[in-house]
Amino acid sequence: MNHKRTLVTCALPYANGPVHIGHLAGAYIPGDIYVRYLRMRGEDVVFICGSDEHGVPITIKAREQGVTPQDIVDRYHKVMKDAFTGLGINFDIYSRTSSQVHRHNASQFFRKLYYQDNFITRETEQLYDEKAQMFLTDRLIEGTCPKCGNPDAYGDQCEKCGSTLSPEELLDPRSKLSGSTPVKKKTKHWYLPLDRYEPWLREWILERHKEWKTNVYGQCKSWLDGGLQPRAVTRDLDWGVPVPVEGAEGKVLYVWFDAPIGYISNTQELLPQSWEKWWKDPQTRLVHFIGKDNIVFHCIVFPSMLKAYGEYVLPENVPANEFLNLEGDKISTSKGWAVWVHEYEKDFPGQEDVLRYVLTANAPETKDNDFTWKDFQGRNNSELVAIFGNFVNRAVVLTHKYFGGAVPQNLKPMDIDAQTLASVKPCREALEKYVETFHFREALKEAMNIARIGNKYISDMEPWKVAKEDMDRCASILYTCLQLCADLAIAFEPFTPFSAEKLRGILQVGVEAGKDYRAGEGNPTENFYKPGEGKAVHTGCPGGDLVLNWEMLGQAELLPAGHMLGEAVLLFQKIEDSTIEAQMARLEGIKEARESARKAKEAEEAAAKIEPQKAEVSFEQFGAMDIRTATVLAAERVPKTDKLLKLTIDTGLDQRTIVSGIAEYYSPEDMLGKQICILANLAPRVIRGIESRGMILMAKQGDGKMRFITPEEALNNGAQIG
Ligand code: MF3
Ligand code: ZN
Repeated sequence: MNHKRTLVTCALPYANGPVHIGHLAGAYIPGDIYVRYLRMRGEDVVFICGSDEHGVPITIKAREQGVTPQDIVDRYHKVMKDAFTGLGINFDIYSRTSSQVHRHNASQFFRKLYYQDNFITRETEQLYDEKAQMFLTDRLIEGTCPKCGNPDAYGDQCEKCGSTLSPEELLDPRSKLSGSTPVKKKTKHWYLPLDRYEPWLREWILERHKEWKTNVYGQCKSWLDGGLQPRAVTRDLDWGVPVPVEGAEGKVLYVWFDAPIGYISNTQELLPQSWEKWWKDPQTRLVHFIGKDNIVFHCIVFPSMLKAYGEYVLPENVPANEFLNLEGDKISTSKGWAVWVHEYEKDFPGQEDVLRYVLTANAPETKDNDFTWKDFQGRNNSELVAIFGNFVNRAVVLTHKYFGGAVPQNLKPMDIDAQTLASVKPCREALEKYVETFHFREALKEAMNIARIGNKYISDMEPWKVAKEDMDRCASILYTCLQLCADLAIAFEPFTPFSAEKLRGILQVGVEAGKDYRAGEGNPTENFYKPGEGKAVHTGCPGGDLVLNWEMLGQAELLPAGHMLGEAVLLFQKIEDSTIEAQMARLEGIKEARESARKAKEAEEAAAKIEPQKAEVSFEQFGAMDIRTATVLAAERVPKTDKLLKLTIDTGLDQRTIVSGIAEYYSPEDMLGKQICILANLAPRVIRGIESRGMILMAKQGDGKMRFITPEEALNNGAQIG
């Protein structure tokens, strides 16, 4: 390793909604695993995140809710921060892009590029809302889709037919702010000419970073092959970091310009004295964990900004994941189709690791993947509980039973014991290789393999039987099992930290928590290690405090004979069907609500649909029709039909029978005594054996709903209509 320290970032999530499992699986759990792993290895690491608090969607949400953007970001910043902490995703700092440090930094960054002539300016015509006195971003313009006629298409796309649009294409465009028709107005913006960086980017990524994940490399290649264009880095908006140069009144930095600088700002806030070595010393490795929609910004735009600025290190790797779906459907915050982390934490207290485990085992590392509650339950019950938990529990309970809770002496070793312990080594090597190349699913499988090895060993050795004849041999078996338990406490620390900590409590050991990144701050706080995460938490066992570290994983003896264990507690709990059914019912409810809203909207649209006018008729043709008033004297259903009523009516001329297809809309009782209009001289027809003479006039709207026509005031029957 030719680096001294690793700076790990996770994408700064927008503070406009709570964190869901898609976020976790995409960037935050992998980032946390990686950091925990490096710390176990004694590396110098900082782990940076925070809320991304600017951008148009936040302003839209604020307007919808009648509050300020600041209110929105204050609310979600806290929800998100707590959700991460609850899952053991322990950023060293989780700050916000609305902080003073950041505002200052982002301005300064812009100013430096500005004075270095790294920008170009362009004047363009943009749509402007004269009433609201604001330029409109694409999302603030609505209108009719030119492709499918959807009246509520956005300026950048139609959600109905999926077309990508530009605001100019919309028929009858209107401003979402005031409803007025936007007008074109000139505006000037600053652009980062990405085309200038293209040759350098090609060489840096395509030649020198062939090791990046294929999904990341592939996306970069296709952007680069498509040719890069200058990108606007300013916007006409009043929410964001003001553009700090003359002639830019009413403009702010584009959110994707300021947000990544937030990584730097947050590091600076965390380490006011020593932050620069993390960002400027070439011996720092910078690693960005993100979701796939962020690839272009982290691999092309931000590196170009850093390159233009000079001084800063560039990302060494950008391990982006693909997307996680939920029960077969795309996760959507606006549609409510998600599992929210803060709700999970409420519904599954003490089971944070299960979510971490499942999202890692099923991570969308190379392609989109699906989260299902059934899979969640299955992995918990048949992997965590049945293998990992079961093995540890048997080993510890038996040690208490036969040896008073002390690690027994290895009195009667056999080859299989040493072979079993040695088989952890290859798991460790594979695990390391996988974590270091960002293949966390595979890495987790290797950790789980150690549990499988242990579970098989204890089942095959049957120490509970051996104890009846040969206590010395039983001692060796349990001695071996306990070494494997200690291996598990090390191997699982990156993946399931709460359970690893619990296991360390059972084994009465501590764990090494990495270097104190605050060493450069002059006076690092004494207690760097968070409770339970650091130094051994117990005292008084023979041989002093035991602290596990990564190097011990797979060694022959981790726990010496005589070391006292703590109480046996269950690492994992079985998840019952009823629990899973409740979660699925919640999702079903969301689906149903969405479905009925969709149907209601469809029906409304159908109802509003107007049939085009029919071909012209002559006055004579119209005059030939004998239309008059009549009254229903009797009504009954036509047997064995759903739609037909047999009506006896008084036409003023006679009493006659008309069979009418209105039973869906009217019962016989509804019709009784009603005055209606009929076409009297329609040629008779036999319907279901009944001769029908004439037709009831009905008004029919787009959705098929029908109503009969009644004169505004009662008339004699037989009054002519025309
Ligand atoms: N807020 C963005 C998102 O949620 C991510 C910003 S990452 C940063 O997609 F680099 F800009 F900070
Ligand atoms: Zn459309």
